[in-house]
Formats: sequence, C-alpha cells, structure tokens
Amino acid sequence: MSFLSKTLSRVKPSPTIAMTAKAAELKAQGRDIIGLSAGEPDFDTPENVRDAAKAAIDAGKTRYTAPDGIVELKQAICDKLLRDNGLAYTTKQVSVGTGGKQTLYNALMATLNAGDEVVIPAPYWVSYPDMVLLAGGTPVVAETTLEKNFKLTAEQLEAAITPSTKWFIFNSPSNPTGAGYSWDELKALTDVLLRHPHVWVMTDDMYELLAYDDFKFCTPAQVEPQLYDRTLTCNGVSKAYAMTGWRIGYAAGPEPLIAAMRKVQSQSTSNPCSVSQWAAVEALNGTQDFIAPNNEKFVRRRDMAVEMLNAIDGITCPKPEGAFYVYPSIAGLIGKTTPAGTHITDDEAFATALLEEQDVAVVFGAAFGLSPNFRVSYATSDEALKTALTRITAFCESLR
Ligand SMILES: Cc1ncc(COP(=O)(O)O)c(C=O)c1O
Repeated sequence: MSFLSKTLSRVKPSPTIAMTAKAAELKAQGRDIIGLSAGEPDFDTPENVRDAAKAAIDAGKTRYTAPDGIVELKQAICDKLLRDNGLAYTTKQVSVGTGGKQTLYNALMATLNAGDEVVIPAPYWVSYPDMVLLAGGTPVVAETTLEKNFKLTAEQLEAAITPSTKWFIFNSPSNPTGAGYSWDELKALTDVLLRHPHVWVMTDDMYELLAYDDFKFCTPAQVEPQLYDRTLTCNGVSKAYAMTGWRIGYAAGPEPLIAAMRKVQSQSTSNPCSVSQWAAVEALNGTQDFIAPNNEKFVRRRDMAVEMLNAIDGITCPKPEGAFYVYPSIAGLIGKTTPAGTHITDDEAFATALLEEQDVAVVFGAAFGLSPNFRVSYATSDEALKTALTRITAFCESLR
C-alpha cells in the first residue's frame, strides 16, 4: 500500500513543471532562453507599499495576527469592494489569506464533500481542478470556444450544472486567455444561476485592475445582487500591485462561510505574513497612480503580441480585454514537422519543440484544459517579448 494519501493520488503533477524544469536546464547550459511563461508582472512593488512594509517592521508589527487578517486590512478590503464594485461587506465577512490561492483553497476545503461537483470553464487557471480534487470534490469542466473568445455561454453553463453542483468558479479577466466578460455576458450567466439556487459562485477577480481599452470590469454579486448570499468574491494584491511574493489575497462572502474558512486556515497556516498585511493596507488605501501607466505598457505589449501572432500562418489569436496573457490557437500547425524532425502532434509537442529549437518557453494549452493552444505571458520587457515573438514566427515558418 502506498504511504501517500489516496487524495493526493487524484491530483496530477503540474504539467507546467516539466516545461519550467526543461527551460531552466537549457538556461544552465548557457542557452539564451526567453521565458513567456511567468504569471507575474515584471514591475517592482510600488514605493509607497514597500515603505509601508518597512514602517511596519520598525513599528514591531511582526507578531501573529488574527488568523484571517488584521482588522485594518479587512476594513481596507471592505472600502475597496464598496468603492470599486458597489458591494457592501462588513469586516466579519472578509477573510485574508496567504495569496489568492489560499483563500480559494480554504473555501473549497471548507465546503466540499465527496460527490460535490464544481463547474470550471476551460481554459482554466491550472490550480482550480486540482484544488477541487484535493478538497475531495469533482471538477466538471465546461469547455469554451475560440469563436466566443473563450467565454462561457449561458447554454454551456446550464448544461454543466447538475443536482450535485456546489460551486461555479468564474474568472474574469481570465488566466490563461485574458478574456473579460462584459456586464451583459456575465448577466447571461447569473440568470442561469438564479434558476439553480443550490449553486454558489466563487468569483476570482484577481485581474480586475488589469483591464484595457474600454472594457469595464464587473463581478457576479454586482451584476446580480440576488446572488450576494451565495457568492464568494475573491481578489488579491498580487497582480495589479506587483506583489506576487508578498502573498496576500482575500475573499468576501456570507459570514458562516468566512468563519468556516477561518477554521481551515487557523489549523493550517495561521495568519498571512503580518508585514505583508500592512503593505496590502497601503496598496488598497494608498495612491493608485501607477496602475494606469503600467496598464499602458501591458496594452502596448498585448497589441504587439496579438498582431505578430495573427500574422503567422496557422495561428489565430483573439485580442483579450485584460490580464497579461494571450492564448493563440495553433490548430493550423498540427500535423506539421519541425526542421529537427519533431512531429507537431499536439500543443505539448509544439511548446517542447519551440523551447528546444528556438529557445522560447511558453505553456502549452493542455495544461489549461483547452487545446491546441499555448499561453503567452506578455509580462516581460518589450524587447524580450519582441525577440521571442520573432523567434516564434521563425519557428512556425520553418514547419513543413
Ligand atoms: C486566476 C488566478 N487566480 C489566483 C491566482 C493566485 O494568486 P496569488 O499569487 O495571490 O495566490 C493566480 C496566480 O497566478 C491566478 O492567475
């Protein structure tokens, strides 16, 4: 009998790890690898946030805190949710965790029983299905299409819901596609949920502030206030504030759910880092002036990526509304062969050959549950991005 748990055996090893390890190995050999696989901004944490953390250290704010966060941060979160999203929460309805990832995980751990289903639109952030599996539930994947810009339709959501559905996980703008749902597109989904009162919504709004052009972010409880009592609104400071390493995420929802999440957290990690919590207070309450210039850079890079990728024969790349990813389809390249003789049978073969033959690291679509595609993160310098896209172009043109 295996020493390891049966639950763990249900979880797949991360398909991205092999690619990352391969890229690191080639880099160690002295190869000039350009990574387009990072899920984090290339900017520094803003100065006012760094200063707040230094001040917290000097003021001795270095001890345990309440397991799910200091009241000052919970209040800053309540103020943010009211200001930006029109959602009224009290501090008792807020949970702060070690990154957005932990708050999502706490919620699943606190609610799932064997047989409970969680509807997850694909392509999805890699962690959703495995977190559901770790918590003992069953992921139900609802595939979107490129034709609908990777957005789930009302019919697709309706078809995925069963009497066993407990949660619907919603993520806009999305990792890995960057797709952002308009008010009307989201309303079509919340209308479906109104017809299924046993289904709760876990909305992952992590990329809220990374929204471009005239796209206006909206979140389920705002679009359909009748869902307020069964919505967990999750967000964090990692992406928009360039604070991935600080590990602060949060969720707001019904008090009994928040209390249950606190129980999970208090018996696992206790509180998120005290210094990071004070930094997050400043991120939410302080100046937001750096967001617009950062977003201008992201828009410029997104436009360059979409334009260069669409110019390649065999690739189709929708232009996303937000985040820092594009998710091109390589349907037109499947079946071709590289100069080194690799047969492009699927998107994993494509990404592996691209790394080996052109020194560019991307993540293949199968990791996100929708193929044949790959994910480009354009959260890298303009120069590196241009060089990488030029290499991708050369690689695709070399296929026979
Ligand atoms: C969609 C989405 N949700 C949540 C997270 C986790 O964020 P954090 O780093 O705050 O745990 C990520 C990070 O990649 C993400 O892409």
